[in-house]
Order: sequence, then structure tokens, then C-alpha cells
Amino acid sequence: MDRGIVAGNWKMHGSRQFIVDYVDTLGAAVQDQSLPVGFVLFPPAGYLEFLARSLDERDLSSAVSLGAQNLHPESEGAYTGEMSGEMLKDLGALWVLIGHSERREYAAETNELVAEKFSAALRAGLKPLLCIGETEVERESGSAAEIVTAQLDSVVSYCGTDALSQGAIAYEPVWAIGTGKTATPAMAGEMHGLIRDELRQRSAELAEQVPLLYGGSVKSDNATALFAETDIDGGLVGGASLTAVDLVAIARCLA
Ligand code: PGA
Repeated sequence: MDRGIVAGNWKMHGSRQFIVDYVDTLGAAVQDQSLPVGFVLFPPAGYLEFLARSLDERDLSSAVSLGAQNLHPESEGAYTGEMSGEMLKDLGALWVLIGHSERREYAAETNELVAEKFSAALRAGLKPLLCIGETEVERESGSAAEIVTAQLDSVVSYCGTDALSQGAIAYEPVWAIGTGKTATPAMAGEMHGLIRDELRQRSAELAEQVPLLYGGSVKSDNATALFAETDIDGGLVGGASLTAVDLVAIARCLA
């Protein structure tokens, strides 16, 4: 792992005009400062190609990679409304979010389906960014560690240990997503330490290789303290990633 990652999950936001303005601002900000950080943007899938072209026109393709927010486990078939990993790759994606808590909640994605999607991402040549994290009730009942370990285990048992080295993991406590409630750096650091230990038990090399990102109301005013934690290698940013200047300000906290 030679540099940190700052990822922006746009969720269901954006338009062509939004992208034009965003890339302009991002281009100016990234060229002003050479940040040793890899940016990954996750727009709605239909905008992948337009965003890829816009980044290319501004010579930003090497600074910014693209990712999709979801995929279907199959490569093609009679699945109305779905997109496969192969199609997303064809549109310019390098990464794909797997198991985001909003998909687990609104699309009833189980640990089993998440594992199948992780495997499908690898088949398509995409880097999976696996999202794991506990709900507020789970944290309050003291089962956060158990939940997160089970989420990780189901991917490892379906895809094998080595599969994890192909992507990254985002720890996102569900109660901190879009709520303005961030985990304290100590709380986030503790969970990241636990995830790193889980990886280390499988392979020391794997533990060093896999970037661990924190997500959940990351902003430029809390990112420095979060990124100072040893086991936090970057951030998965939702709301604040919709403003290019804010995303760059967060990346500056990692540099
Ligand atoms: P948030 O979203 O930064 O708006 O909390 C994070 C995410 O959903 O990945």
C-alpha cells in the first residue's frame, strides 16, 4: 500500500452539468497541490462514461479512478434493471462498492449475496470495496465486533482469503452514515484495529496490503483526527464528496 485512498460515494446524486462543474473544480484543486492520495469517485452507473470522458479531458484520469455503487452477480441475463460487473468495467469502472449499508438495508442484501457480488467483481476484473459496519442497536448491545467479523468472514469463506488482497475494506458504522454523527477517532481506530487483526490472523502480508477506509460523516474538520489513527488508510465519503473542494480538503488531511 503506497498511498492512501479518498473515495467519494455520490449515491443517487449528480447530472451532466454537475459533473462538468465538479471536474473543473477538482482539476484546479488537484493541480494546485500534488497530493499523494488516490481518488476514487463512485457516481450513479449511468454517468460513469460521461465522468470518465470529463476526467480524461482534464488530464485527471491518473489521479482519479472510477467505481460503481453496485453490481449484479451474473455477467448477463434476464435481470431487468440490473448491470453486471463486466458492463460497469466496459463503462470505465475500476472499482465497485460491495455491501454498502444502504444496499443491505433497502435492497435486503444479505452477507451471502454480498459475498457473491464480491466474487462477481473479481470475475469482472473490478476491485471490490467491501463495506462493513454495525447498526446503532448492534453497537448498543455490544455486538459490533461480532457483526463486523461475520460480515468479513462470509466473504472470506465464499471467495477465499487471497480475494481480499484484490480490493479494499471500508468500515462504516451504519449509525454514522449521513447522520452527522461520526465515530470518535478512538472508536473508529479500535474497529479498524480489530479488522486488521482479523486479516493478520489469515495472513500478515494480507493485513499489510489491504487498505482500510473509514466512512460515516467524514468531513474536512474531522478527517485529520480520524486519519491519524494507525489503521485508518483513507476515507469513504458520502455527503461531503458532492463538493469537489471538500473532497480535496479531506484528501489534504490524509497527505
Ligand atoms: P456520509 O456517507 O459521508 O454521507 O456519511 C458515507 C457513505 O455512505 O459511504
